[in-house]
Order: sequence, then structure tokens, then C-alpha cells
Amino acid sequence: MAFYESQVGVLISEDKLQARVRELAAEITRDYAGKDLTLVCVLKGSVFFAMDLAKHIDLPLKLEFLGVSSYQGGTETTGEVRITTDVSKPMAGKHLLIIEDIIDTGLTMQFLLENLRARHPASLKLCSLLEKPARARTKVDIDYKGFVIDDHFVVGYGLDYGEVYRNLPFIGVMKGK
Ligand code: XMP
Ligand code: MG
Repeated sequence: MAFYESQVGVLISEDKLQARVRELAAEITRDYAGKDLTLVCVLKGSVFFAMDLAKHIDLPLKLEFLGVSSYQGGTETTGEVRITTDVSKPMAGKHLLIIEDIIDTGLTMQFLLENLRARHPASLKLCSLLEKPARARTKVDIDYKGFVIDDHFVVGYGLDYGEVYRNLPFIGVMKGK
């Protein structure tokens, strides 16, 4: 992966990510033993994280995907959230674990939590790889959290800048942003 080198610096290495993913998966495996777990993966940013996590959760589970749009291609939230792709099944009575890439202002997740809660799941919890508390505009409780980061715009491991850089295997910071 040499293409990025002049534009992106490493913030969280691939080894650190993979080690933390295994720890989170072990916690989730313990907490959901005996339950019928559904991972609700938020498109597109959480997909790399969610698939690595799912591979290490030692339980039968189901996968759902939910697309939301709150950013219009730049680095600042518009505050307006829309569901662009909905889950494929009714969520009532299910144990839902939302998988997200990053909680930044928290506005996207506040909307999603309210939206999913209104569908009457048996339980609803949140797993986010990253949290950026410096920019929080609403309080969101993260049940399973990978890393807390400073106020950088990050890319890689699912996160993009203008739809590019998602395939980097680490979390990086855009140089000069
Ligand atoms: P909010 O502000 O609503 O943002 O908590 C959540 C969504 O915004 C995107 N986001 C980022 N994407 N690098 C990215 O590539 C970032 O540093 C970043 N901060 C927020 C992301 O899609 C997240 O789900
Ligand atoms: Mg996202």
C-alpha cells in the first residue's frame, strides 16, 4: 500500500486494530452467549471493522446493513441524517448490536438509536471502533469502544476521504487536514 504514503500518516497500526478487534469480539461473545445476535453494520465506513469483528465472535449471528448519509463528501457534518439503505428484515424482538466506524458529533448515532429503538428490538447496544470526544454535540453511550482519538480527520479501515482510502489496513490521518 504505497499509494497513500505522501498523503496519510499512520495513527493506529494494523496490528493494534486487529488486537483490539479480538478483545472486543471476546467481550461480545461472552455478553451475548445464548442470545440470537444481529449485527447492524452502518454502511460504508464500518464494513471492514464489522467483518473482522464478526469473524472473531464465537456465536451464531446474523448480519444486517444500514446506510445513512450525514456527510456530503467533506469533513464536516451537515447535522441532517437520512437512511439511504434500510435493513432487510423487521428488527422487532431481536438483540441488535450496531457496528459503527466512528462517533464524532454523535448526531448520526443519536438519530440511528432513536430510529432502531422505535422498531422495538429485544435489546439495542452500540459498538464503535473510534470515538472523537472533542467534537461531541450530543452524549452517546458506546457499549463496546475500540479507541478514543484526538480531533483528527481519520481515514482507512473503512473510513474515507471523498470515498477514497477505505482499503488502507490501518487508521491514518490526512496530512495537512
Ligand atoms: P457524527 O458527526 O454524526 O459522524 O458522529 C458520524 C459519521 O461521520 C463520518 N465521520 C468520519 N469519516 N473520518 C471519516 O472518514 C472521520 O474522521 C470522520 N468523522 C466522522 C463517519 O461516517 C461516521 O459514521
Ligand atoms: Mg459512518
